[in-house]
Amino acid sequence: MNKNIVVAIDGYSSCGKSTLAKALAKKLQFIYVDSGAMYRAVTLYFLRNETDLKNHDLIIDALEHIDLNFHSRDYQSHILLNGEEVSEEIRQMPVSENVSPISAIKEVRQQMVKEQQKMGKSKNIIMDGRDIGTTVFPDAHVKFFMTADPKIRAERRFNELSAKGENVSLEEIFENIAHRDFQDTTRQESPLVRADDAIILDNTNLTEEEQLNFALEKIMPFLK
Ligand code: DC
Repeated sequence: MNKNIVVAIDGYSSCGKSTLAKALAKKLQFIYVDSGAMYRAVTLYFLRNETDLKNHDLIIDALEHIDLNFHSRDYQSHILLNGEEVSEEIRQMPVSENVSPISAIKEVRQQMVKEQQKMGKSKNIIMDGRDIGTTVFPDAHVKFFMTADPKIRAERRFNELSAKGENVSLEEIFENIAHRDFQDTTRQESPLVRADDAIILDNTNLTEEEQLNFALEKIMPFLK
């Protein structure tokens, strides 16, 4: 097998990037890195510290106090914020509602991108996010750009959060997704855009198995 294969998965919020990435990592025995979890963990740090999120100078200065680490278990990506596992807490609404403006700050992105690039240096890796195929790994072997009908995305997320006992309405989730799409695609720093060489994967009407097979077919030639 070739050494150090990189697969980039970008796309809109809640359109199944991490589900596909985890399934691929398991099948191919690659390391899975959820880059969104890093932006979420940074946001959680500022929420916990009651930092004024509009004060970019404060945020930039505080970055040096944030240490992020992943540990991989069962092909899931667990994130540690200053040594504490926060994988569950970063999925809750307060973080979802504040992560887009934080992830739009240039210095935040620079630090995250540097750490992400380090992770792809020596391992076969699948990373999902918004700028993986454009900025983090522009030379990734395979790039996917995922999309799905926003209503379907909101329903999937609603079912996921409801199953965990979170009390949120479908409307609230739909609005949060639409708002994040807008912020992620219109921000100045590394907006969400499809890389020219990314393969579009619209999963509105695809099962998880169909998506996995589609992606595997594209990756297989690089594994020979
Ligand atoms: O994938 P996610 O929904 O967990 O990502 C959370 C937020 O982080 C999302 O609104 C945009 C931002 N993000 C980003 O700007 N760049 C990435 N590579 C990953 C996520």
